[in-house]
This record gives sequence, C-alpha cells and structure tokens, in this order.
Amino acid sequence: MQDLSWWKHAVVYQVYPRSFQDSNDDGIGDLNGIRNRLDYLVELGIDAIWISPIYPSPMADFGYDIADYCGIDPIFGTMDDFDRLLEAVHQRGLRLILDFVPNHTSDRHPWFVESRSSRTNPKRDWYIWRDQPNNWQSHFGGSAWEFDEKTGQYYLHEFLREQPDLDWRNPAVKAAMFDALRFWLRKGVDGFRVDVMWLMIKDGQFRDNPPNPAYTIGQGSRAQFLPIYDADRPEIHELVAEMRGVLEEFGDRVLIGEIYLPIPRLMDYYGPSLGGANLPFNFQLLQCAWTADELARTIGEYMSALPAGAWPNWVLGNHDKSRIATRIGLSRARAAALLLMSLPGTLTIYNGEELGMQDVAIPADDVQDPAEKRQPGIGMGRDPERTPMPWDGSPLCGFTPARPWLPIGDANRAVNVTDSRMNPDSMLSLYQRLLRLRRDESTLVSGKLTELSAMDGVLRFLRSDTRARFRVCINLSDEPSEIACEDGVIAAATSARREGVRVTGSLIVAPAEAVTVKLADSSDPVGAASA
Ligand code: NOJ
Repeated sequence: MQDLSWWKHAVVYQVYPRSFQDSNDDGIGDLNGIRNRLDYLVELGIDAIWISPIYPSPMADFGYDIADYCGIDPIFGTMDDFDRLLEAVHQRGLRLILDFVPNHTSDRHPWFVESRSSRTNPKRDWYIWRDQPNNWQSHFGGSAWEFDEKTGQYYLHEFLREQPDLDWRNPAVKAAMFDALRFWLRKGVDGFRVDVMWLMIKDGQFRDNPPNPAYTIGQGSRAQFLPIYDADRPEIHELVAEMRGVLEEFGDRVLIGEIYLPIPRLMDYYGPSLGGANLPFNFQLLQCAWTADELARTIGEYMSALPAGAWPNWVLGNHDKSRIATRIGLSRARAAALLLMSLPGTLTIYNGEELGMQDVAIPADDVQDPAEKRQPGIGMGRDPERTPMPWDGSPLCGFTPARPWLPIGDANRAVNVTDSRMNPDSMLSLYQRLLRLRRDESTLVSGKLTELSAMDGVLRFLRSDTRARFRVCINLSDEPSEIACEDGVIAAATSARREGVRVTGSLIVAPAEAVTVKLADSSDPVGAASA
C-alpha cells in the first residue's frame, strides 16, 4: 500500500475525550488520559486518532462551542499536554486528527463578545445579524434566531443560542479561521474532521424554508421544514476547496467532512476535480435498516455513486448516534464489525464500539446533553452513547476514581478491556483479529467490491485485486444458511474457532454469523485446518 496516502488505508479511531480516560481525578477524561492509553490503541491495531473538540469552551455543547480555536480547555489539560500527546502518537506511528468547528463559535468567544457589543463594532459582520428572523429552526429545537436586547437585532444559531453562527461569506472570518487551521497544522496534526460542513454557508437572501409535508409531531421543530435555504448551499463547495487548499500547504493531511445528506448530494463534497473533502463522512451504515436487502442496496448505491478517483469511507457509530450494539443487538454488532472491516476505503471506529459497548439509560436528573434538555423525551439525547470507557471490572472501571460525569452502566462494565483482552470470544478479540487481517491483506482496503447480493437474508460480496480474492458472507436472517462458496480458507469469522478452517464448495453460516473466505486461487491452503 506504499502508493496510497496514509489516510486511504487508515482505520481511524474516534476518541470522545470526556469519556476516554481521566488522569486528574475530576470524573472527566483528558489529554494525559488519552496518552496513558495509547498502547491500548496500538494493541487494538488502529492507525489514526480523531479527538472530539478539546479547545477552551464553556461546554454548553461539550466542546462544540469553542471560545478559542488555538488553545486547550483546562478540563482536558494544557498545550504542553497536547504537544506531549501529539509526540507520543507520532512516536507510535499513529496519526492525530483534530475536530474543527467552523460553523459556529461559543457566545463567549471574544469575536462574538465584540460582535454583540454594538452594531458598529468591526466584528459585527463576523456573525449573522438580521432585523427580523425567518423560519429557520435550530437543530436542537426552537427558532434558530435569538434576539439581542442591547443592539435590537437577531443573531443566527443553527444549534444552541450559545453557539452563534459565523458568517463565512466574510473574508475576514475565513482568514482568521484558516489561520487557526494553520496553527495546528504547523504543530504537526495530521488532519481535521470538520463539524457540520454542509451547514457552513446559508442562503444570502435568508429565504424561509418550505414546509416539510412528511413532518409528524414529535420529530423536533427543525423537521417541520425542508432544509433548502440553511444547508447544502451551492457556494459551500468553493469554501471546502479553499479549506482543502490550506491543508495542502502542509502536505499529506486529511480533510474529513461531517455531512448528513442523501448519497448524490454527499458525493458533491469530494469537490470538482476531487479538490474538496478527502472524505465526506459516509453515514449510510448509521442510518440504514440492518437487513441484507437494505445493506446490499445502500452499499451498492454508495459505491456506484462515487465519482472517479473518490475514496470511500464507512462508519458504524459516533458520539451523536445510538451505539451499534444497541441499535442492532450484540451478536449482530459482531457481524457489523466484520462487514465494516471488509469494505473498501477508510474506516472510522467510535471508542467503545470495539468492546461492544451499549447505550446507557440516563436517569432524568443526570442528563447532561443540551439536545435532550431542550427537547426532552423525543429521543434527541446523546448521553447514552457518550458514557465512559470501561477499562477494568472495578466499580468505576479504571476510568476515574471520582464520580464520572456520566454513569458507566453494568452492561458496559461487563465488557471491560481487561476481561475482554483475556477472552478470545470477546468483541475486542474479534476487532483485533479483523484489524490484523485488514492490515495484512491490502485487498480488503483497496480491492474491487463486486458480486454484491442479498439472498435469503444473507449479504454477500467479493473483494478482489491481482493479489487475492475474498468472499464475504453475512447472515442477517434468523435461520442458518448453506451458501455455495468457492474453495478456500476462512480468514475471518465472528466465531474465532472457524478461522483457519478450509471451505470446499459450500459453507453453513449461522444466524448473525459473518465469515470472510480467502479463496483458494489466491491463498496458500497449506497449513489450514480441515473442515
Ligand atoms: C455535530 C457534532 O457532532 C455534535 O456533537 C454537535 O452538537 C453539533 N455538530 C454542533 O456542533
């Protein structure tokens, strides 16, 4: 894989820093905690770490409200701690990707403090001020406009009122934000995951969004309208290309865009002549129904929509969505892991997925997430998937000696790292085996994906290149299935004891079982155990 940029064959591991590892006994994870756990990540077999925001922040949205783009919040440590972490990451041959939140700042950012101080302040037009609101709604519910008593105008906030939107049509904003990117790039960070990339530019005429005919009560106020004028505007692509240009000043860095859009519109973010985001996040596996038919349709649609030269990527979970093991159940989550690791391109794993962590029910009094607090009870809350990593089986799981900022949950304690390491049947052992295979077999990263089908609840496809061929079979039905399969050897399976077993003509795949067979014409069957 010498000829591929590092990020093309990388498996990225998302660290939600508040919940990874506490090192200063305050119940919240931090940078030194991450550094102390790097060897775990090496042992797991990932290549790059993306850390959710660590910048100074009043934490109204847990770091996605930034008050200084070039600092470190004391909750997470100091700039020295960051420098030490970056060095330690690089020493281990890993890469570090930061989260960048360009759409909005904190309302305590000095730019906004100035902007709201008077209508004539030079920073007034760094944000979006209007005499009258339109009908745009916040992603967290309610109007996206907040009236400012002092200056008698409304400012736009696509998220909380504590997160005013920057005006990216203003060249001064662009210059300041690009300099913030350069600050971190100069330090040596390997790329950025850009928050809500598709929202950064809004309609210049502030037209009302049209009503959503499919809206039903209980979906949150934003769903009342179709996001035509406050999202995915045509001007965004020029801006993304400029952002990419900033990264290219520093060589081989990666630009990942958070984009929730239907496949055809998502593809536009690769940019004309592919000069846009290197990886517009592909959230299809987060959103689709977990049936063989749906998966085959979705994977096929995504792969065939990729523009020439575009590099695919896949994600099963993140800090905003219910965990995969909760969405589809633990045993199917094992099959999902094998599916993920058999797909072409760059992969992202959300911390704890590799253990089989589940959502934790949060008692009403302990709710932290502003999305839940603003629209309680309609399933907007994201605390359940943000709970601390269970490192051992002790009551606080080795995460902290203090009261953790979110509860740990018994089911997650049961899949703790220490115990999972010892257990060949654990999710962790499965992830390690799958990651090892992917590292050893570049066909799984960059080979073609063909023969995609769904039959009798079994998803199948072939991965191949001049080096090898792999048949992937995932049984998503409730019945065992006998599948015709060319001769070969099982290279990966959700059940460890099947690995290394020879296949001759067919194989039986149990419900929720997944198997990758290295076909005989490309493998060396010598040494394989017989079936
Ligand atoms: C997307 C982030 O992933 C989410 O956690 C955050 O609340 C919003 N953007 C606003 O920044």
